[in-house]
Amino acid sequence: MKDSPIGIFDSGVGGTSIWKEIQKLLPKENTLYLADSKNAPYGEKSKEEIVRLSRKNTEFLLQKGCKLIVVACNTATTNAITYLRDNYDVPFIGIEPAIKPAALNSKSRTVGVLATKGTLASSLFHSTSENHAYGIQVLEQEGTGLVELIEKGELRTVKTRSLLKKYLDPMLDKGIDYLVLGCSHYPYLIPLLRELLPEQVRIIDSGEAVARQTKAILLERDLLDSYNGKVKHQFYSNTDKTVLKNLLHNTDAEIEVSYLDF
Ligand code: SIN
Repeated sequence: MKDSPIGIFDSGVGGTSIWKEIQKLLPKENTLYLADSKNAPYGEKSKEEIVRLSRKNTEFLLQKGCKLIVVACNTATTNAITYLRDNYDVPFIGIEPAIKPAALNSKSRTVGVLATKGTLASSLFHSTSENHAYGIQVLEQEGTGLVELIEKGELRTVKTRSLLKKYLDPMLDKGIDYLVLGCSHYPYLIPLLRELLPEQVRIIDSGEAVARQTKAILLERDLLDSYNGKVKHQFYSNTDKTVLKNLLHNTDAEIEVSYLDF
């Protein structure tokens, strides 16, 4: 069981930003990543549809023998993780916008959250925001269209830049000093965001926190892999694999990317 893979799923390629943090913190773990790019973006779908797709992804990963599942998609976490935890025995790790550290450290008492419509509309997002950002102005901005551009590999195009600028300017006018990335695709926009944001605005994503939580749960359940041999990282995509491969090209780990008719 300890050498079974950690399963990770996302609505597409964005969750590889989470996979990179997990691989860095837990280099002995085998992993299996499912990119459901054919159905991206989840952020524009109904809760019922997000739950249905999350179940389908979970069942695929369980069939492959995964010992724990990371829901590397904010929209799927906020809309489906309660259902998944109630219906499957395997431990699930979710990803939520890092509002707490932003709220704790903000000097201007104003933080921006860039996330999908589905995440911002969810009750889990609202309870997190209410519990951790008391007395702080939280400006919510839907990142409509960004996931589609990232899925096409458009990380630095004119189109992506102008869409991001349209979303950032109103938050900057209101004085944010933290920008919380509430979608696992968005860390791939950090180089562009750094060009568009003033230096004093900090960017926070949740990748490291998810990796730490994954390690904590594996330890707690005695599931941590301590084997020193060859580690296997399998990636499955149900669309063209090119963008997925490009995003993973600078990793040191040995990876295998396959097409899946799913
Ligand atoms: C999406 O599929 O709309 C974005 C995934 C996410 O919320 O992390």
